[in-house]
Amino acid sequence: SHRIMLGPLVAAIDQGTSSTRFLVFNSKTAELLSHHQVEIKQSFPKEGWVEEDPKEILQSVYECMERTCEKLTQLNIDISNIKAIGVTNQRETTLVWDKETGEPLYNAIVWLDLRTQSTVERLINKTPGRNKNHLKHKTGLPISTYFSAVKLRWLMDNVDEVHKAVVSHRAMFGTVDSWLIWCLTGGKSGGVHCTDVTNASRTMLFNIHTMDWDPELCKYFGIPMEILPRVRSSSEIYGLMKICSSRKSGALSGIPISGCLGDQSAALVGQMCFQDGQAKNTYGTGCFLLRNTGVKPVMSEHGLLTTVAYKLGRDKPACYALEGSVAIAGAVVRWLQDNLGIIGSSEELEKLAASVGTSYGCYFVPAFSGLYAPYWEPSARGIICGLTQFTNKSHLAFAALEAVCFQTREILDAMNQDSGIPLTQLQVDGGMTSNKLLMQLQADILCIPVVKPSMPETTALGAAMAAGAAEGVSVWSLNPEDLSEVTSEKFEPQINPEESEFRYARWKKAVEKSMNWET
Ligand code: G3P
Repeated sequence: SHRIMLGPLVAAIDQGTSSTRFLVFNSKTAELLSHHQVEIKQSFPKEGWVEEDPKEILQSVYECMERTCEKLTQLNIDISNIKAIGVTNQRETTLVWDKETGEPLYNAIVWLDLRTQSTVERLINKTPGRNKNHLKHKTGLPISTYFSAVKLRWLMDNVDEVHKAVVSHRAMFGTVDSWLIWCLTGGKSGGVHCTDVTNASRTMLFNIHTMDWDPELCKYFGIPMEILPRVRSSSEIYGLMKICSSRKSGALSGIPISGCLGDQSAALVGQMCFQDGQAKNTYGTGCFLLRNTGVKPVMSEHGLLTTVAYKLGRDKPACYALEGSVAIAGAVVRWLQDNLGIIGSSEELEKLAASVGTSYGCYFVPAFSGLYAPYWEPSARGIICGLTQFTNKSHLAFAALEAVCFQTREILDAMNQDSGIPLTQLQVDGGMTSNKLLMQLQADILCIPVVKPSMPETTALGAAMAAGAAEGVSVWSLNPEDLSEVTSEKFEPQINPEESEFRYARWKKAVEKSMNWET
């Protein structure tokens, strides 16, 4: 059989909250050649707690790599054409492992987890004027359950093994990127302990101006700096893949891991939002709207985060973004499926919702993990209101989709207020964008067009681009002129703005009711 000549290929590991993927792209055309996806189990050991198994996460990466390699071989594509691998990941999710045994010391505490709510409230109460933005000048972030520092603190205080490992200098902390890179570059026998600036900027221990760990922040949270990974740029060679030859993915050994970005940053890169003012919204487990603000960090006046967007090379400047984070988007679909059992799949949700085409006055605020941007209210809880005898599960399905759109509208409003230049269209990506009803609803509720690229895997593409552009790899040029035009699908608003505003005002009332639930 003859081999197909394609030129260099670039791959990405995309480790998200709900699933892991491995994808291989042609570096000339950005065409997706092969990929594989595996779901990740989430456990909810107590109310508000969300955990994942670090070993299962790692195993899922191996499985995706193996299956993708098999598919490439079936396509007659030589695996040795893969020149670089990028890593992109769910951000903030916190892990601690033992560097001598290589064993995780507890489950990964997922970003959505609420166990640190009381710690967060205590920290805020101690600040002058009970100000949740007390650390914002350095971190760009409000004190919240969302970020890694409080989760790490919890692990040190409540898990004996973690405490012991810290005292005996055996502990390593990391977000999912660090855990994967360490394991994939050799683990306990010489693995590289690092993270990139985008992931670091979500820990609350990182100073986004000096671009390094901040001793004062570490002291504030009581975190010993020796357990932190080394911070690197988003595009450089961190290490080489070291996979046991007995594994089917052993063929990937020796390939440099040379790109690393938190998933939302990666999507910004994959959507080619390199200019100041460009923005994208990604619909995953949560929903995250990022707007590039160039080399200047802009502090939000309207509840958005300031975060590092990317730094594509050791000597390249860091670019920043304003971010609106919504905790629950795709997760509401999984909830309707697993917890209520009213749908069997996400396709069914779209069908149900489309069958009625209205929520019939029902509003669903899925504040399962409190409310993130622009409210940052950990005590908010989910509510469904406006029910009548007439309401049925189809209306509820519609309200769930509408909730995703209203939450995005709140972020867009804040973003427009902060930047003074309103977005005239919204670039979108992520799993939920295959739901055409959702996309139409989103355009209707934002009153601007929604634009979706034809290749939906923009997160992985961004990480692959960063990996391929790294010095010493350089198979990908990130010059805007060299990047191929993205073909896309556009959804134009179809309802009149008055109706849109009416529904949005109702939504806001529902949000009011979901807040301060416990007080
Ligand atoms: O901040 C959390 C985010 O990175 C998770 O993204 O795609 O898994 O919802 P996703």
